[in-house]
Amino acid sequence: MKFFIDTADLDEIREAQSWGILSGVTTNPSLYARTGGKLADFEPHMVKICQIVGPDVPVSAESTAETTEGMIAEGERLASLAPNIVVKLPICEASLPATHKLVSEGIKVNMTLVFSAPQALLAARAGARYISPFVGRYDDIADDGLDQLDTIVTAVKNYSYGYWDEEGGPEIITASVRSPHHVTEAALMGADIATVPFAALKKCVHHPLTDRGLEGFAKDWAKVTGKE
Ligand code: G3P
Repeated sequence: MKFFIDTADLDEIREAQSWGILSGVTTNPSLYARTGGKLADFEPHMVKICQIVGPDVPVSAESTAETTEGMIAEGERLASLAPNIVVKLPICEASLPATHKLVSEGIKVNMTLVFSAPQALLAARAGARYISPFVGRYDDIADDGLDQLDTIVTAVKNYSYGYWDEEGGPEIITASVRSPHHVTEAALMGADIATVPFAALKKCVHHPLTDRGLEGFAKDWAKVTGKE
């Protein structure tokens, strides 16, 4: 499974990039708002992210347009910012024709806010390169986000769609990830990608037994070096 980072914070992206594990970046309007950025800085900010990760790493930039025409225009503009921009669109009646048009121009779409298999299948059929089912937000309404993810992965992978076959797409991005458990289960289900916020990514590095083991080694080494 590939790891993406779910953030618009440049320092977090730089650090995750330095770990050598980063295969992509996903942003959304809320994550950009969290950086304190204003509208005029949005496009330059997306360009900075693209420069940090390099031209081969996909960076999802979300359109906030509400009409098909608006999504196409914004999508074309975002895609022109850098070769690795992926246009993020929310699944809705307006975004399906927008996706279909953008894909005909060779522009990649990440279909977001996906919560059901029919939504995911429609996104794939319209030509989305990535499909992002949300796990944590499902859990938030006392449902089982991982169960939904499993259904979506199985349903989408049952078929081929003729748009991104050579690249192995459409790929499923496990989104709204909150914990290492979400990452483990997504990998077992065969989800292609997990986009993980930096705090949850750090949790994935750690384990209580690793920490305890390190403490024990340090104590015993202090005996060896006489620095107890
Ligand atoms: O970027 C989309 C998704 O990962 C957001 O997740 O944490 O706001 O539920 P969250």
